[in-house]
Amino acid sequence: MTNRLPLVAANWKMNGSRASVKELLDGFKQNLPGSDVEVLVCAPAIYIPLAADELAGSAIGLGAQTVSEYAAGAYTGEISVDMLKEYGCRYVIIGHSERRHVFGEANGTVANKFYFAQGNGLKAILCLGEQLQEREAGVTEQVLSEQLDAVIAKAGIAAFTDAVIAYEPVWAIGTGHTATPEQAQEAHSFIRLQIARHDDHIADGIRILYGGSVKADNAAELFSMADVDGGLIGGASLKVNDFLAICQAAR
Ligand code: 13P
Repeated sequence: MTNRLPLVAANWKMNGSRASVKELLDGFKQNLPGSDVEVLVCAPAIYIPLAADELAGSAIGLGAQTVSEYAAGAYTGEISVDMLKEYGCRYVIIGHSERRHVFGEANGTVANKFYFAQGNGLKAILCLGEQLQEREAGVTEQVLSEQLDAVIAKAGIAAFTDAVIAYEPVWAIGTGHTATPEQAQEAHSFIRLQIARHDDHIADGIRILYGGSVKADNAAELFSMADVDGGLIGGASLKVNDFLAICQAAR
């Protein structure tokens, strides 16, 4: 099996201020784990230039939380792949459940965004995840494969070579109800198998992060599962010590 480098990504969502961006990044920089974990911060778009300055020369990567599916032009309010790259972003979260369920991004839009970002030099972190009623109805795997297949159909499996997937069960996001390590492992291995149906090598190499109420005290257990390659961290990434402890747990 490939040795996958663990990745821990902060998703600050729509939180913070100039002051908190500086304070958090200062704290992260001072106590970074070694090179055996990749650490990434996905900042609100308006703070990306500030975060880029703060992170200059550090090993912490910078990412965005969403991006336009269009290259440039009359798309009021949107931010393009090129704009993000100009400010040093290397990653972008695509299809976060809040984009899907609060802002109505359908599988087709998510697929277009993944295709465009991944094809133009940003690494996509593609989020997949079922809602509570879907889990209870026993259709989790169907939902995950529909979400994944829409992207594979648009972008092709080769586009996943240096992409990342995040499994984020919607019922676990911001609720304190973390998936059990076994539930996470089951979903992650299912996702990896779906990719392996197209390409074994890509399936073996791709990192699949878990997201949903990851905290300092449950991270190690989640990250110990065979197919969990790190985490996408919301609330706990807004506290220096909590986030650093989660990064340590991924080593
Ligand atoms: P929480 O860690 O706050 O549950 O958020 C998870 C998430 O949505 C990360 O993208």
